[in-house]
Amino acid sequence: MCGIVAYVGHRQAYQVIINGLKRLEYRGYDSAGIALLNGGLNVYKKKGKVADLEASLKNEGHLNSHIGIGHTRWATHGEPNDTNAHPHYSANKNMAIIHNGIIENYASLKQDLISKGHTFQSETDSEVFIHLIEHIKDYEKCSLDEAVRLAMTQVVGAYAIVVISKEDSTQLVAARKGSPLVVGVGEGEYFLASDATPIVEYTKKVVYLNDHEVVVIRGGELHIRTVEDLPITPYIQTLDMELTQIEKGGYKHFMLKEIFEQPKSLRDSMRGRINADKNHLVLGGLIEYQQRLMNAQRIVIVGCGTSWHAGLVAEYLFEEFARIPVEVEYASEFRYRNPVINENDIVIAISQSGETADTLAAIELAKSKGAIIFGVCNVVGSSIPRATHSGAYIHAGPEIGVASTKAFTGQVTVLAMMALIIGRAKGTITESKFQEMITELSSIPDKVEHILKTTDEQVRYIAEEFKDAKNFLYLGRGYNFPVALEGALKLKEISYIHAEGYPAAEMKHGPIALIDEQMPVVFIAPKDSSYEKIVSNIQEIKARKGRIIAVVTEGDTEISRLSEFTINVPQIHEAFSPILTVVPLQLLSYHVAVSLGKDVDQPRNLAKAVTVE
Ligand code: F6R
Repeated sequence: MCGIVAYVGHRQAYQVIINGLKRLEYRGYDSAGIALLNGGLNVYKKKGKVADLEASLKNEGHLNSHIGIGHTRWATHGEPNDTNAHPHYSANKNMAIIHNGIIENYASLKQDLISKGHTFQSETDSEVFIHLIEHIKDYEKCSLDEAVRLAMTQVVGAYAIVVISKEDSTQLVAARKGSPLVVGVGEGEYFLASDATPIVEYTKKVVYLNDHEVVVIRGGELHIRTVEDLPITPYIQTLDMELTQIEKGGYKHFMLKEIFEQPKSLRDSMRGRINADKNHLVLGGLIEYQQRLMNAQRIVIVGCGTSWHAGLVAEYLFEEFARIPVEVEYASEFRYRNPVINENDIVIAISQSGETADTLAAIELAKSKGAIIFGVCNVVGSSIPRATHSGAYIHAGPEIGVASTKAFTGQVTVLAMMALIIGRAKGTITESKFQEMITELSSIPDKVEHILKTTDEQVRYIAEEFKDAKNFLYLGRGYNFPVALEGALKLKEISYIHAEGYPAAEMKHGPIALIDEQMPVVFIAPKDSSYEKIVSNIQEIKARKGRIIAVVTEGDTEISRLSEFTINVPQIHEAFSPILTVVPLQLLSYHVAVSLGKDVDQPRNLAKAVTVE
C-alpha cells in the first residue's frame, strides 16, 4: 500500500518519477505527489490518481530537476485529500519525505514534537517522521543520514522512506523496516522504488534493501549502513523482468492481459520442474527440507484473500497425496491467536506480492515457535521469500491488476507439485499414480488456452445478461469449494456486486432461503467424485427458480438440461480442476465489471500489496 519512487541522475526527474508512479499506482491511488529540487524544494500534490497530478502540472513551467521523490497513496491516517498527500515537508521546508507503511507510535511522537514547538499541516503519521528527523538533525547537529538513523531508533512501525533535502542536490537518504524498497543502480544515476517496476526500463541492476538499513546516495555514490551504523556491501542483483511484462500489451486492462497470460504463466511455473516423459518432478527449494516435510505431523497454511483460497485447494491436495493433516488459516487471525505450533510443524506462507503484512507477521510468529516456514510467492526478492527458510516462486511474472488471477493458478500449480513430490517420497501415492498426475499437470497450460479461446465470448454474453443482479451465489464441492469462494471474491472486488461462495451442500443450512427468480447461482460442477451430489444441489436451486450458470466438463449433458447457461472446461483430474474452473469465473467478473463501467484494474478502496494490517 502506497508506492514510493525517487530519482537522482542525469535525466529529468519529473518524468522518471511520474512514469514510476503510474507503474506503482496499483499500490494505492487516493492521491499522488512529487517533490523536486528545482530552484527551491517544491512539493506538488493532488488528491486522485497520478493522471490528475500530471494534468494539474501541465502548465507548470519549472519542473526542471535531476533529483526528486514521488508518492502514490493508499490512505491510512487522514482522509484522501491534497493536504494529506505526500510528500510532506519538514517544519522549515528544507526537507521533504515520502513514506510507505504505518508509524504506530506517531501520536506520542507528535505530541512530543508539538510540545517542542512543531506544528503539523496534515493528519498523517508520515509528517511526524520528517519532523522527528528535522528535530534530531537540529538538536544533534548531525548529518541527514545520521538523523534518519537515529529517528529509526525512536519510530515504531513499518516504513520505507526517502528524504530529499535542499542542503545537497545530489543526495537522497532512504531507509526501510517492514515495507519494501529497491535501489536501481544505473550509469551515474540511482532510482529508489517500492518495487522494481519503475526501474526496469532504465537499469536491470538492483539492490533489495533489508530491514533496518539506511541508504545514502550522495555525489553519485551509494552507501548502505545498518541502523547500528555498520557498513553493508550492496549486493547488486540482475532483474529477471522485461518491460513488456509490465505493460498492457494491447489489452484494455491488466486484469484481462493477466487472465490471458495464464497458459504462459503456468508453463513458466512448471518449466525446469516437471518432465512427464521422464517421470521427473523437482522443486529446488524443497530438496533441503524434503525430509522435514515428509515427517511433518501437520502443515499449517497461512495467507490472505486469493492466496488463502489457493491454500484451501492445497489442503485437499496435501491430504489426498501426502496424507499430512493440513490447517488453513487467515494470516490475520493466526497472528493474533496463541496458535499451537512447534518444531514438527511446517508452515506454508502463500503470497503473490510477498509483502502482505499479516502474512509476514504470521511467519515471524511461527518461526519464533520453531516451525519450518516454506514460502510460495510470486514477486522475486520480496519480503516473504526472504523471511522464510525456503520456498518456491510461482514465476507468474508481474501481476499488476489489483484482482489476483494468474497468481492463483500459479499458486495452486506449485502447491500441487509440492504435494506430489512429498507423496511420492512418502510412498503415499504409487509410481503409476505419480506418473499419471504429472502428465495431467503438464496438460494444464494447453487446456487453459483452450478455455480462453472457447469461453470468452460466451462469458461476455452471460455477463451482460446478469450485470444488473444485486447478489450472486457461487457453489462448489470438494476441490471446487475454494473456487466458489474465489469466484465470489473476484466479482465483489471489481464489480462491487455482493457475492458469496459456499460449499454447495451447505445451501440447505440457511442460504437456500435467498433463492428466488432474481438470484444468479454459479455452480462449479465438473465431472468429479461429487458430481452426482452437485447435480442434486442444482435440482434444489432449480426447484426454487434460481437462475443457474454452471461450469461443467465438456460433453456434460445432464447439467446443461438444468441450467440456463453452461460453460465448458476440458476434462482433468479433479485435483487440478480448480486451475481450469477458475478461469471462466475470472472472465465473468471481468466482463461484468467492464459492462458496469467499473475501474477494473484499480477498484475502489483496494490496493494490490496490503502492507498494513
Ligand atoms: C484478491 C486479491 C487479494 C490478495 C490478498 C493477498 O484478488 O488480490 O485478496 O489475494 O490481499 O495478497 P498476497 O497474495 O499478495 O499476499
